Amino acid sequence: MTGFSHTTQELVCDGVSLSAIARAEGTPTYIYSAALLRQRYRELDDAFGEYPHAIHYAFKANSLRAIVSELRALGSSVDAVSIWEVELARSVGFEARRIVFDGVGKADAELEAAVALDLKAINVESTGELARVEAIAKRAGRIARVAIRVNPDIDAKSHPHISTGRKINKFGIPADEARALMGTLPSRSALKLVAFHVHIGSQMTSLEPIRRAAESLAALVHDAKLAGITLEYLDAGGGLGISYDGGPVPSFRDYASALVGQLQATQLPIVVEPGRSIVGPAAVLLARVVDLKPRTSSSEFAIIDAGMSELMRPALYDAFHLIEPVVNREGGLRQYELVGPVCESGDVVGRDRTLLPLAVGDLVAIRDAGGYGSVMASNYNRRPLPAEVLVENGTWRVIRRRQTLADMLALET
Ligand code: LLP
Repeated sequence: MTGFSHTTQELVCDGVSLSAIARAEGTPTYIYSAALLRQRYRELDDAFGEYPHAIHYAFKANSLRAIVSELRALGSSVDAVSIWEVELARSVGFEARRIVFDGVGKADAELEAAVALDLKAINVESTGELARVEAIAKRAGRIARVAIRVNPDIDAKSHPHISTGRKINKFGIPADEARALMGTLPSRSALKLVAFHVHIGSQMTSLEPIRRAAESLAALVHDAKLAGITLEYLDAGGGLGISYDGGPVPSFRDYASALVGQLQATQLPIVVEPGRSIVGPAAVLLARVVDLKPRTSSSEFAIIDAGMSELMRPALYDAFHLIEPVVNREGGLRQYELVGPVCESGDVVGRDRTLLPLAVGDLVAIRDAGGYGSVMASNYNRRPLPAEVLVENGTWRVIRRRQTLADMLALET
């Protein structure tokens, strides 16, 4: 079976023993399935069928070189949110015309570099940013390719921290303002409007907001035509959710059909910027139980060697990640509060879980940790960034070694 599955003995990744990886590489360690990563990319790509499209994988979800190189080999393009992600993409071989550059606060130096690279598009998020791009392009004697990120005032119905499409959110330009801006573009010769862009949130588990956001893109195309602007594509953003808890989520096929359904009348190619839906399920964070102690009359703390410093999502968003023992022990189910080692009460990785018995030294796998896991890790409490391992063809290799204290201190006087 591709990805993570149970044999009679233990949880394995593409048939490779997670216990063996832990013995060799220690814990906490992120473990990725190359096969599952490929499968998810291809499934999404196939879901668009013959309709012209480009998948711009969102580096922010996970930009390990080994991961993005793999996606490049599959034909992916890039969604970057900082000039450093752009440079990383270039360094692993992505052509500039396969990179879109997003972000609500791009500094002038980032915009200058982006204009010089002649990226596929700089997705601008305000009238002011568009003016800055224009001034930079003029100074450089270039024509900047831009897309306007529209804020359609749609509720993504996701966690408030990762909902981006409401008027009150800092992202994008309201549709009315975008229309007015469009009118100014034909006379601004240093700017070429190539697309409209929308991204209303992440971890969306319903297609309804996605459909409505796409509809708002289609409406703008009509106005662009009237203004005499010929667009090259439409960028529908990322945001498709994954099933962390086993609940239903739209399939790639339903997602692609929803977008094509809304946008095909425009006859423009569709760009999407998925992050989590590609890489999320393709990894676990492997951790070890370091201590157990009583909590209430009916539950225990299981203290593990991975916490908010390695995987911030539960503490930051109250996010649920399935946690399972790598090897099941005999016995009745018990209640555990799985907590990390960090000195904060909020460092809870799995709240109130019912699991087979755990013992000190046991391994647990925190599932669906491939997206917004390692990229959001920190050195809080001077904890080193975990090791990261890629399983491929029945074997594994370290794709990022565990950080050391010396690595951390190398930056300090
Ligand atoms: N495009 C734009 C403009 C974005 O802001 C994002 C994510 C994506 C694409 C990719 O979205 P995805 O397909 O991965 O949902 N740290 C949070 C998620 C933050 C998402 C930020 N933007 C989490 O751990 O849930």
